[in-house]
Amino acid sequence: MVTARSTPNIALIKYWGNRNDELRLPMADSCSITLDFPCVEVSMDHSPIFTLHSYLPDGTEKILKEKDIARIEEHLKLTKQFLESVNMANAIPESVSITIRSAIPPAIGIASSAAVFSALAKAYAGFASGLSSRDISIIARLGSGSAARSIFGGFVALTNDTTNSSDVASASANQIADEHHWPLFDTIIVPTMEEKKVGSTEGHHMAHTSPHFKKRIEAIRSRRQQECIDAILTKDFAKLQAVTEEDCWDMHNVMQTQTPPLQYLNDETYRIVDEITELREREHLPVLFTMDAGPTVHLICTEEALKAVREYAHAQKSCTVFEAGMRRGAEILENEE
Ligand code: DP6
Repeated sequence: MVTARSTPNIALIKYWGNRNDELRLPMADSCSITLDFPCVEVSMDHSPIFTLHSYLPDGTEKILKEKDIARIEEHLKLTKQFLESVNMANAIPESVSITIRSAIPPAIGIASSAAVFSALAKAYAGFASGLSSRDISIIARLGSGSAARSIFGGFVALTNDTTNSSDVASASANQIADEHHWPLFDTIIVPTMEEKKVGSTEGHHMAHTSPHFKKRIEAIRSRRQQECIDAILTKDFAKLQAVTEEDCWDMHNVMQTQTPPLQYLNDETYRIVDEITELREREHLPVLFTMDAGPTVHLICTEEALKAVREYAHAQKSCTVFEAGMRRGAEILENEE
């Protein structure tokens, strides 16, 4: 049996829209921070038939939807195909039993699929020794695009070779700098614990229908991804703030103008963003905001701003708050193979 653990990541340059939907090959590069909370553990074993059990943060078994089970089975199929392409066809069992233990409330914009599929990829790699971290990130990506980034710790880029849209290996993650390079903190303010109605997978498929999509991809390819990497390497918070917030609004503009339109942000999101903008101007705080596919606001800051940011977050009485730091990426906890 193999047990692997992983965590979500928060994107600074966001992944939105694919070159190839089945293989989750993104249109553009993305960039993120791997968080240290909340953790997901995946245990995997040989099994005559595919079985899947998932447990909620309180330990009760989660009733899985047909489509969630189908997604994990499809991921196993795609993983086998990828292993075949690198001449490791029989490296993982023909069928597996999977147990997922997650501390993440589902579908609230803190990337539960990224933590789950990166932990699954790491667990498969426990059976298939000899895979590189890059290969493992490709396996994670086949389940969820953003999951590729949680294989690595610290600051991570997902890089594309866009010349071939059917090459499964043409998008993979790599580490820009480890978690000790520049300690940043993510204070996560969740206005609603309600599950979102349209998930990212469906949203990605329609991104190209937005009139702003092409321009967005060009901006990331020509400038934004590199600006973000430079800001990280030089620890330039003002630059990181500018490019991250620009990219966040740009992605939500694409989402809101695609067909059908996706409005993930709500009044609480806009209120929090306005108040944080005012607070940081007044107190000169190094803090930036960013939102994924949900109303949840991520406030990323250096240690200097942490106290004020956490005080602000905990004063939002109608919201749930999570606190995260940075982490080293997916890992194997136990391997009895
Ligand atoms: C808005 O990785 O969740 O969080 O591949 O369908 O699982 P799937 O999509 P997913 O998309 C993430 C979208 C995002 C931005 C990001 O994390 O880069």
